[in-house]
Formats: sequence, C-alpha cells, structure tokens
Amino acid sequence: MKRLMVYITLILWTACSLLSLAEAAIRAVVTIQDSASTAPFISYKILNEVNETVFTGGDIAVHMDGNWCVAETYNSERDRSKYAEFSQFASPVPLTLTREESIKGIFPDLGRYEGIQLEWTCLLEKESQASVITSFYNFLSGNLILFRLEWPHGAQNTSLQEDSERQTAALATFPSFVMTSTSKKISTNDDEKAVVSPLLPDTLSWQGSFVQSVRGLSEGSAGGPTVFYNASDPYLNNVIIASQMGAGIITSHSDDGRRLWNTFTAGNNRDWSNTRPALSPGTSGRITSLPSGYQQNIILYQGSHGGITSTLDEWGSFMKNISTAANTPKVKDVTLEKIGIQTDNGAYYCFCAHDHQNCSDVLLKEKIFLQDIGIPVGYVSYQGAGTSSGRGKAAPWCVEKWSADGGQDKAHYPLNTGDLQRALGVPLQLYCPYFCPNSTYFGSDTWHDWKAVASNPDLPGCSGFAFETASAADSKSFFGWFMQMGMDSGMTSFESDFMNQNVNCVEEFIHSPTDTDQFLYGMADAAQDLNIPVQWCYASPNEVFSSLDMPSVTNFRVSFDFCYGRSYDIGESSLLVWALRGKPSKDTLWSTDNNKTETPGCKWTVDHEEVAAELHIVLALMTTGPFGLSDGIGMSNATLLKRTIAQDGTLLQPSKPITAIDSTFLKNPKLDGFVYSTHGMQYSWIFVSFQMKTPYAVRRQDFWPSVYVDATSRQSPQLVYRTLSRSPACRQGDDAIRNGCVTLAATTDIAFTVPESSLASPGSDLSPNVVTVWKSCGDGIFFLGEVDKYVALSPKRFVSLSCSSGEISFSSRKSLGEKMEITYLMPRKRPSGEFWYEVMTYDVPLEKENLVSVVISTSNNPVEAKAIA
Ligand SMILES: *[C@@H]1O[C@H](CO)[C@@H](O)[C@H](O)[C@H]1NC(C)=O
Ligand SMILES: *[C@@H]1O[C@H](CO)[C@@H](O)[C@H](O)[C@H]1NC(C)=O
Ligand SMILES: *[C@@H]1O[C@H](CO)[C@@H](O)[C@H](O)[C@H]1NC(C)=O
Ligand SMILES: *[C@@H]1O[C@H](CO)[C@@H](O)[C@H](O)[C@H]1NC(C)=O
Ligand SMILES: *[C@@H]1O[C@H](CO)[C@@H](O)[C@H](O)[C@H]1NC(C)=O
Ligand SMILES: *[C@@H]1O[C@H](CO)[C@@H](O)[C@H](O)[C@H]1NC(C)=O
Ligand SMILES: *[C@@H]1O[C@H](CO)[C@@H](O)[C@H](O)[C@H]1NC(C)=O
Ligand SMILES: *[C@@H]1O[C@H](CO)[C@@H](O)[C@H](O)[C@H]1NC(C)=O
Repeated sequence: MKRLMVYITLILWTACSLLSLAEAAIRAVVTIQDSASTAPFISYKILNEVNETVFTGGDIAVHMDGNWCVAETYNSERDRSKYAEFSQFASPVPLTLTREESIKGIFPDLGRYEGIQLEWTCLLEKESQASVITSFYNFLSGNLILFRLEWPHGAQNTSLQEDSERQTAALATFPSFVMTSTSKKISTNDDEKAVVSPLLPDTLSWQGSFVQSVRGLSEGSAGGPTVFYNASDPYLNNVIIASQMGAGIITSHSDDGRRLWNTFTAGNNRDWSNTRPALSPGTSGRITSLPSGYQQNIILYQGSHGGITSTLDEWGSFMKNISTAANTPKVKDVTLEKIGIQTDNGAYYCFCAHDHQNCSDVLLKEKIFLQDIGIPVGYVSYQGAGTSSGRGKAAPWCVEKWSADGGQDKAHYPLNTGDLQRALGVPLQLYCPYFCPNSTYFGSDTWHDWKAVASNPDLPGCSGFAFETASAADSKSFFGWFMQMGMDSGMTSFESDFMNQNVNCVEEFIHSPTDTDQFLYGMADAAQDLNIPVQWCYASPNEVFSSLDMPSVTNFRVSFDFCYGRSYDIGESSLLVWALRGKPSKDTLWSTDNNKTETPGCKWTVDHEEVAAELHIVLALMTTGPFGLSDGIGMSNATLLKRTIAQDGTLLQPSKPITAIDSTFLKNPKLDGFVYSTHGMQYSWIFVSFQMKTPYAVRRQDFWPSVYVDATSRQSPQLVYRTLSRSPACRQGDDAIRNGCVTLAATTDIAFTVPESSLASPGSDLSPNVVTVWKSCGDGIFFLGEVDKYVALSPKRFVSLSCSSGEISFSSRKSLGEKMEITYLMPRKRPSGEFWYEVMTYDVPLEKENLVSVVISTSNNPVEAKAIA
C-alpha cells in the first residue's frame, strides 16, 4: 500500500544568522510530518549558523493522571526500529497535536522572537482536560532559545514517586536532547562515550550541597545547569548553557512575576521511558499535581564570545536582568565588607573547649587582641558558641531554643546574647539552620500558632536529618518574628544552613509545586523587610537561582568546612554562584597554624599548616564573600592579615569572585594544579596558583575580562606583572624592569609562567603564588596601586582612576592617619633612545580621610601631586 506523506517543514530563522554567518547563532528547527493515515509527528533539532546539528530533540512527554502522554519524535526508520525495543517497557498514551501556530513577537526582557507553538491533548480514557502547550522561541539575537511547556488546566497525579528509580526524573521532557555516541574518538585514550551534543561533547554542571562542580551531567533536584563545550578547542570558541529560567503559575488573573526555582530537576539523564540516555531537565517528578497555568521554562544560552567564564557571566547577567530584583541592590551585609570573627565548625573557639570557663569573656578578649594588632573586626559570627544543641537523633546543629532567646549554654556563655553584643561593640551574625524536633517554637500550644513541617530522614540524602521548620504558609511571619528577636540582641546578619536538606528532606516541600519556593521567599522576604542580609550555607543550585529574586540573600558557601580540609577548592563552585550574582564563601580560616591545635571533631589536615595559612587568607579575600577569622588569642599573623584590609577593617577585595581559569576545563592543558583568577579595577588581573605539579604557562585566553584589544585578531596590549612578596620591592627611582619590580609579559599567546609548587614540607605546595598583571592606564603609564596589598587596585579602595593628557588622577577611600602608598611606572627614554620604566611612589597624605582625590601631573619634571580631601 502506498502512503501519501506530506511534509510540512517549518524552519525558524534568526535575523542574526541571516545578517552575518560569521556570528555564532543557534536556533530550534521544528519539523512536522503530516501523513494522511497516521497522526502527525514532530521532530526538532537545534542547529548552528552553518546548519550543523548541535542538539537533537527527543520525545515530548508529559506525565499526568498516572500515565505518560508521549509525542514520539523518531524521524527515521532506523530510529523507529530502535524505538520498538524500548516501547515494551512502557505503554504511553499518544499526545495528539491539536493546534500549531507560528508565533512572532517581543518579550520586553528577552527581545524579539520567532517560533512555533503546539497544543497537545492526551487521549486519556477518563474525561479530563489533559492538554499542554509547547512553544519554541528563537530569539533574534541568536543567543537564546526558550522552550516553554504550559499546563493551561493544570495536571493531577503527575508524580513518579512510586518508581524509586525515578527519584531524580522530570515529570515532563520538553525539551529533551537525545544522547548519541561520539562519531570520532577525541584521543586514542578515550572510550566512545554517549554525548548530548556531538559538536560540544564536554559538559560541566553543579550539584548538591555547597554547589560542587560536576564534570559531566548533574542529576535530580539538587542538580543544576549544564555548560556544553569542546575541551579540545583551546579557544573554547563555542559554549552553550542549558538551564532553567524559573517556572511560574500564569493565569489571566494572576502573575506576580515571581518565579518558582525549586520545582526544577536536572533529571535522571534518561528519557521518559527511563531507558534511552537523554538530557531531560524539567519539573521534578516528585511533585504530585500542577495548578492551572503552571509553566516550566528551559533555555539554551550561547555565549557571544565563547569561553566558559565569559559565557557564564553573560548568561548570569541575562538571568539577573530578567529577575524581579533586577534593579534592587542586595541588602548591605557587613560580613561582605569587613573582616570578622567566626565561631563555626573548625574555629579555634567553636566549642570553646580549651579549658576556658567563661567563653563570653574569651570572645571579648579575642576581639580586643585583634584590635590591638591592627585588625579591627566589623562583626562576630556567634555560631558554634553553644547556640545550637539537640544531639542524638536530631539533625546536626539544630536549634532547640535560640541563643538570642537565652538558649545558649549558660555554663560556658554566662553573658546573654544582647549583653555580649553590647560588650563587643560590633554587630553579630546569628545562625539557625532549622529546629530540633522538640523545639518549642511551633504548635497550637504556642501563642503564635505557627505550623511546622517535619523532615523525613528516610528520604534519599536525608539520613540523620530529623528536624522541623516553619511551614510554607507561615514562613514569612515566623522568620520575621524570629529575626526580629535576633535583631533585639544585636544581630545584623543571619545565616541559615543545610539548605539542601531544608528543601529536599521535607515531604510537604518536595511534593508541592509551590511550597519550597514559598518557604524560601518567606525567609528572604522577612529578612528584606528587616534589612537583614542572609547567607545560605549547604545550598544546592536551585537555591542559588532563587537568590536572583531575593535581595536579602547575599552569599553561599562554596567549600566544605575549614575543619575537614580542602576548603581552598572553590574555583569551580564559585563560577555558578558568581554568575548568578551571589558572593561565594569559603568558610572560616586561620592565619597561622594555631600551635597545631586540633579542635573538637576536626582532625589535623595538611592545609592547616603554617605554610598553607596564606592560601586561605588570599582566597577568602578574593571570593569577595565573608572573611571570618577564627584564630586563638595571640595566634594571628597581623602581617598577612593587613594585606587584606584598609585600616578600618574594610576588606580590600577584587572586583569579582575568584574562579578557576578557563584552561582548567581543557583536555591536556598542561595544567596540573590549581590556577584561579580574578581582577581588580579595569587595569589589572590577579592569578593565584597552588599545588602545581609542573610550571604552567598562563595564556591570554585565561584572562577575564578579556585582555584582547579585539577578539578576532587576538591582539593584546603590553602587560607587566609582579609576584607578590616574591618579586623584588618597587623602590622610588628604580628601573622597574631591571630591578625586578615588574616583568614585561611576553608578546606571544602565553603571558607568563607560574612556577611549580614547593614540596619542601607538609603543606608547602599550598603556599599560594599570587601574580598581579597590569595593562597601561593610558599615556604608557602603569598604575600599579598598592603593591603591598593582595589586591593592588581594589574597587573598595579606588573609586576612579584615569591616566591621560599628562596627568594621573584617582580618588580613593582612606581613614585619618592611614598610610597609603601608591606605586606607578613612568615610561622614560634614555639618550640612547632606549625605553625604560621609572618606579614612582606617592604617599597619600596621612591627614586626609574619606574620599581623597589626587592629581599627579606627569608632564612636569619632577612630577607634582595634589591631594584634595
Ligand atoms: C541553512 O539552511 C537553510 C534552510 O535550509 C538555508 O537557507 C541556509 O542557506 C543554510 N545555511 C548554510 C550556511 O548552509
Ligand atoms: C495515580 O496514578 C496511579 C498509577 O496509574 C494510580 O494507581 C492511582 O490510582 C492514581 N491516583 C489518582 C488519585 O488518580
Ligand atoms: C574541538 O576542537 C578541536 C580543535 O579546534 C577540533 O579539532 C575538533 O574537531 C572539535 N571537536 C568537535 C567535536 O567539534
Ligand atoms: C543586562 O542589563 C545590562 C544593563 O541594562 C546590560 O548592560 C547587559 O548587557 C544585559 N545583559 C545581557 C546578557 O543582556
Ligand atoms: C564572664 O565574663 C564576662 C565578661 O568579661 C563578665 O561580665 C562576667 O561576669 C563573667 N561571668 C562569669 C560567671 O565569670
Ligand atoms: C529536647 O531533646 C533534648 C535531647 O533529647 C533534651 O536534652 C531537651 O531537654 C529537649 N528539649 C525540650 C524543650 O524538650
Ligand atoms: C604555642 O606553643 C608554644 C610552644 O609550645 C608556647 O610557647 C606558646 O605559648 C603557645 N602559644 C599560645 C598562644 O598558646
Ligand atoms: C607571618 O607571615 C609572614 C609571611 O609568611 C612570615 O614571614 C612571618 O614570620 C609570620 N609572622 C608570624 C608572627 O607568624
């Protein structure tokens, strides 16, 4: 029998790729094959600007009323026969196409698009309005594709819970991208592997507590976005991110614009049939029903300039721009601005168990000791100091009665929290992860009658976590009351911990499409109303996304506890937190080995050695997150600590959180060790390396922001660099190059080489090598800034800087009596015609304070400097 097949092919173009084929662009191409005798079926692909397939779409499948409703997307006989062997595992109900429509328009935040919208009905036996709408939006920028799946009438019985294999799976697969085997082996050592994108075979993602990086695909509700790249391409020319863009409940009468970030699962990396490998992120299959108007949004975002750091930054900027808090600055947070004292796990005074009877007194003395050595702390994080109790079956660090409520161990902490704060004279950060199962804050016997929800320690990843916390509905009101109680005792910053367990161990939260987000918004909104900043510790990617819409949530832990070692491993986790506009936190640190004291619960680790202390100091500063010192009294190294702060304790941080350089992600990059990078004001970059088994040649490609004058020619300006405390001093009048104050960077692709780490003593390979690289600020002048600080050109110090028409002018912040020495290099010419750089130094006058503007006239000889307060 001859079948008449009519092919209708809808090809969706982006203007950008029409205008310029050189510009990288991606677009979804949807093909609907309409046959007279069978139901139409669709297939879709993501193509690049030269029509290569970047991703191949899989079946569109939705789980509702206990069934899988599926639109098969097989598009060849081969696929069809391949499919036959899978179909025995599941008997799907067909999704029938009931409407198709080309769409075209503009979203105010996203730009112009063209696309196609398809409406589907699931032919379930019982009478129900089981329809869904899938839309493909190709944005004309060529950078963005949005895949939206809507349930106009909601859906019942959506959960996959009964299937324990599918704890991590999504209840709908749109889009899903099928995995294929790589056609060619990348190197002879490589096995053939299943990849989502043959063109971009390598992936980076994040998963679980502390947002740890995953080289590969993440899974489940604690999973995150996926970065696709080609690790064999030294320039990482093409990088694409697949991520959620928040879910929502949009009906004709309600849309508060607030998105749901916590319904997302990275999926189980199989398609709906649970057999074929596929990238299948979407709405968590633990959710039991969806309300009318629920929609999930998944995007593909392609970086304009390639590069992993650059693409993450651009995608993050996009995510921030579309958030409800796009124009609301984060709540001011003293823990991000000033050096502070920490008392959490790993701190010398965590349990204050060193034969000290009066720990309130110990903390007061510690603060005064630091002040006396020139380290004025801006706050004390009063955490491990008896604020939590509840052992045995209860979750770790749970709160039974809060310290601000008089719940601290009075035998060790005789002062109540408010009195301690007044005696300290600096504000407190207080901590509460959740409540012990017998906490008295909830229930009808309390006058507030707040409802609690309890964790289920039998859920995966929840063993040992018996706790309770506020229900979604009561979260805002409860945390508002709770934080106010903290503020009454001098709290100006709040830390909530075990966020991964908070959101993934409570049945009410994980089965609901709205409760997790309502619980989190409740805490964040309460904090915002009180102007209290919040750290979320032990969080997973969904909560980091949530913080886009939460001005009060300022920072996230990106390392395991200092206590257990390796808290320097922050370069990859920080990439996600930074991209989503949060500040990474590397946990507390010591500035010496504290006489090799083992604190309770913390075995001695090699990164607690004296030689490794500087690494923790440098990284904590450069995260731009909290710098929480926790030495014993008399055991701090003021020399090192003073390189991190101004005289008033302000952290002289770089402009961006430090992250792993792009070469970290390449195949055979000759990089065996850690090289992290950040930058100061526009004219400087900083590279911190440690545990280097061999020297590493840092490439210009590793600089972010890009050092290139223009991206296509890969032209770079002249650079000079210096290694902190290893390069010779920069003395007034010296020949900067000859005396070694700075070195000229090579003009090749390689900028400079960082040395291998020492193996002289335990931990010596953790002694950081800190290289600062400058380009000219104009007129051939190199303005080095404060070369004795870790960050010579900190935006916390310098407000503006320019070098032109015979003068250097800058304005900077300082205190009265503070010594601030500026170094810059003047280009000079010898009578022989040879160029050299003269080291010039300038002391900003001691008597000036606050914002000081300085103009240095360089056309006169000698130079003249003027400081205006
Ligand atoms: C890509 O495919 C479209 C549609 O078939 C065609 O118009 C276009 O010329 C192709 N582009 C390239 C670079 O081959
Ligand atoms: C949900 O679906 C399952 C599996 O088909 C079925 O056993 C159960 O009865 C359904 N529950 C409801 C409330 O429809
Ligand atoms: C990855 O990049 C390398 C170097 O540019 C190139 O030879 C290779 O073909 C690329 N791989 C893929 C799968 O495109
Ligand atoms: C986000 O908005 C800012 C300010 O309008 C703009 O400069 C930036 O380019 C936007 N980012 C993206 C990725 O569109
Ligand atoms: C503990 O130290 C504080 C601060 O020095 C002091 O006010 C208090 O009286 C001391 N309490 C006891 C019980 O020693
Ligand atoms: C809660 O349980 C702990 C541990 O069993 C016990 O020490 C404490 O007294 C209990 N608190 C309350 C308020 O019941
Ligand atoms: C550290 O140990 C040394 C030698 O054991 C001792 O002299 C010194 O007092 C200790 N320092 C502190 C602050 O405890
Ligand atoms: C502080 O650190 C510097 C640099 O590592 C070192 O030279 C000095 O001895 C240390 N001082 C103390 C008191 O530990």
